[in-house]
Amino acid sequence: MALIRLIRHRPGAPGLRLFGLGPDLKPSRGLLKLRRLLDKHAFWAVGRSSRELRQMLAASNVVVSLWRGKRIVGFGRATSDCIYRAVLWDVVVAGDLQGYGLGRKVVEALLDAPQLKSVERVYLMTTNSSNFYRQLGFKTADNQNLFFKKKDFD
Ligand SMILES: CC(C)(COP(=O)(O)OP(=O)(O)OC[C@H]1O[C@@H](n2cnc3c(N)ncnc32)[C@H](O)[C@@H]1OP(=O)(O)O)[C@@H](O)C(=O)NCCC(=O)NCCS
Repeated sequence: MALIRLIRHRPGAPGLRLFGLGPDLKPSRGLLKLRRLLDKHAFWAVGRSSRELRQMLAASNVVVSLWRGKRIVGFGRATSDCIYRAVLWDVVVAGDLQGYGLGRKVVEALLDAPQLKSVERVYLMTTNSSNFYRQLGFKTADNQNLFFKKKDFD
């Protein structure tokens, strides 16, 4: 497989967020490409606008992206209080490159970030990738319920 580069962005991913920077800090229309990656391969994140994605990145303590040349092929982010709790969000690998260990690289890079390294518990939600996370040492929470409230409070 051609060389895959993993970028550990600064908190809030300012380069990617404001200038679309990719590998070697080169302008790569990264935000547009991230939008397309999510639209195509992340069913829960379809239709997010560039403005929304900028807000999302700005509020993420840890952001990781994977690139193959000028193409963004993977992404993941986390929010964290850097001591007690962190949550992983939007972990995704392009369909044609799934199954080559790239998702593992994204999750390991997130967990390895200084903002997550010492937190007591790292949470995540997944619809159909439970076995992927089990392989990475995550356990299902038998004694906890997942609650949510939607924006329109229905
Ligand atoms: C889930 C996802 C990120 C995994 O990335 P990936 O690059 O395909 O996974 P990897 O190749 O790194 O797999 C790591 C390990 O998990 C296993 N694995 C990956 N996907 C799996 C699945 N769906 N079921 C069972 N095991 C899986 C692999 O066999 C591998 O095990 P190994 O290291 O013992 O060989 C990727 O498939 C994806 O983007 N899916 C669509 C979006 C999605 O559902 N994301 C999760 C949101 S919470």
